Amino acid sequence: MPHAGNLNSIMPTALVTGASSGIGLDLAKLLAARGHHLVLVARNRDALESLASHCASRFRVNASVIVKDLSDPAAPQQIADQLEQKPTTIDILVNNAGFGIHGPFADTDPAAQRALIQVNITSLTELTRLLLPAMIRRRHGRILNVASTAAYVPGPFMSTYYASKAYVLSYSVALARELRPLALQRYLGLRNDRSRDCFAARLRAW
Ligand SMILES: NC(=O)c1ccc[n+]([C@@H]2O[C@H](COP(=O)([O-])OP(=O)(O)OC[C@H]3O[C@@H](n4cnc5c(N)ncnc54)[C@H](OP(=O)(O)O)[C@@H]3O)[C@@H](O)[C@H]2O)c1
Repeated sequence: MPHAGNLNSIMPTALVTGASSGIGLDLAKLLAARGHHLVLVARNRDALESLASHCASRFRVNASVIVKDLSDPAAPQQIADQLEQKPTTIDILVNNAGFGIHGPFADTDPAAQRALIQVNITSLTELTRLLLPAMIRRRHGRILNVASTAAYVPGPFMSTYYASKAYVLSYSVALARELRPLALQRYLGLRNDRSRDCFAARLRAW
């Protein structure tokens, strides 16, 4: 578990799932550049540890790694248990881990379909359920659920991926509405119109 030399305990801590590559890796770097400590979750230990070392040395933040397969139904509770042992307070939850399956639905592997639903929907929901109550008690926290423009339309030959993102969008908008009185969760939407709506700029303001 790499540590920065100069730990600043008052800075917020963000837990990012799917931080070993792609969008999650970039979001983790953006958060670290803003001084957030990190808990990085995915299956690829080497990639997570390399990112944690980079963020600790470059941005002087505290970065730790939890190696977990989010297709395992036990994973969200195990992550929460590991956080309690540290103990680490999570101020920002980034539910980013996700994947898609291509091909005619009837030909796809049922185990892979179960894993997709577990990672894209169930683990995202359970991690939120496990970490949200403490945010509500502290009246402080942020949750960013990474959906997709796939959320807005059905996707033949990627039917379960598109449907899973529709779930993430619907769930996130509803939760944001529920939590509005606490100003705890903001819905960060992305319209398919880059000229008028820059996601990166909106993320910086979030
Ligand atoms: N790329 C796009 O164009 C795009 C567009 C819209 C939305 N998205 C969404 O953005 C998110 C990130 O996508 P990406 O493009 O950055 O994909 P990516 O580069 O393939 O990254 C996916 C991340 O999810 C993690 N992950 C996948 N299965 C996992 C599992 N079973 N347990 C734990 N972690 C798992 C991967 O880590 P490990 O393999 O190390 O476990 C990886 O860190 C996804 O939710 C995706 O649906 C992507």
